[in-house]
This record gives sequence, structure tokens and C-alpha cells, in this order.
Amino acid sequence: MGKGKYEILEMMPTPNDYLALNYSVGWEKVPHEPSIETALQNSLICFCAMDGEKLVGFVRVVGDGSICFYIQDLIVHPDHQRKGIGSSLMDAVIKYIKKNAATTAFVGLMAAVGVEPFYEFYGFKRRSDIRPGMDMLLKRDDNINHTGDN
Ligand SMILES: CC(C)(COP(=O)(O)OP(=O)(O)OC[C@H]1O[C@@H](n2cnc3c(N)ncnc32)[C@H](O)[C@@H]1OP(=O)(O)O)[C@@H](O)C(=O)NCCC(=O)NCCS
Repeated sequence: MGKGKYEILEMMPTPNDYLALNYSVGWEKVPHEPSIETALQNSLICFCAMDGEKLVGFVRVVGDGSICFYIQDLIVHPDHQRKGIGSSLMDAVIKYIKKNAATTAFVGLMAAVGVEPFYEFYGFKRRSDIRPGMDMLLKRDDNINHTGDN
């Protein structure tokens, strides 16, 4: 638990609550709303910060559950920031990874500009210029048989 009255629960939020929290911090990135439930379900673990019935913070971990983990979607609603919720969510994530990781595991995340000090506290380091991160948005190819038969 953080400094306040908030509860950190291991659970999946509803897609609507997840979206509302994303929008609250200006993240309008969700490419395909009907896929959110599947995406959340396929996470290794989800943690919600609750103020009573209200979702005020969220984080999830994706990855292989052994040697490779990515921390995804760490969000605290602007009305509830700087009250220790983000730290409590990160504590839950680190505890989960330490319990489930192979002896040594890679833990990655994408930090927003300015938020790096928050993550540095947990031991994350900025990537060097000779090992930059890269990403892309890839469109599904509807000519491919998605049943996995081909
Ligand atoms: C980043 C974020 C999750 C932090 O959550 P939070 O609940 O406000 O964080 P905490 O209250 O636990 O902060 C603990 C300490 O981390 C540091 N910290 C918190 N937010 C920070 C920020 N935005 N930048 C730099 N340091 C920060 C401070 O030292 C803070 O201690 P203090 O309040 O005593 O000064 C929250 O600001 C957020 O949701 N931001 C928008 C979405 C986002 O950028 N998410 C991160 C994805 S990269």
C-alpha cells in the first residue's frame, strides 16, 4: 500500500475503465478497442490501484514469464498522482518479477520524457546511443489465415 487510502489489487480492469485511465493522461493510442479485453487477458499480470470502486491507477506486465518481462501501461490518474500510487504499483510489479523470473531476467519498459527519474529509483537505466530502442505499428494482414493452419 502507498501513503493513502488506496488499495493495490491483482486484477484486470474493465476495458472501459482501462480506456478512461489512458485518456485521463492524454494517451489516445489504443488502436483497436474490441481487442483490449484480449490484450489485458494475455498479460502476465495486471495490478489495479483502487480508490473504493474507482480505478485510479494501473500497470501490467507482458512477456515470457521467465527471462523477458516488459512493464506496460503504468498510469496514475492526474487527480491522484504524487500520492505514492505509482510507487506501490511498481513495488507490486517488481515483487511479481522477482518471484517468477529465471535467475536473471531482462526487464524493459518505454519511459516518457521526464519520467526517467521515477524508474531510475527502481534500478532502470537509460539505453545508450549504441543500443537504441526501436518500435513500429504493424497492420494485420487479412490475407493471412489467422487460424494458425498455414
Ligand atoms: C509516472 C506516474 C505513473 C507516477 O505515478 P505517481 O503515483 O504520481 O508516483 P508516486 O507518487 O509514487 O511518486 C513517487 C516519486 O517518484 C518521483 N516521480 C513521480 N512522478 C514523477 C514524474 N512524472 N517525473 C519524475 N519523477 C517523478 C518523485 O520523486 C516522487 O516522489 P515525491 O512525490 O515525494 O516527489 C504518473 O505520473 C503518471 O501516470 N504519469 C502519466 C503517465 C506516464 O507517463 N506513465 C509512465 C509511462 S512511461
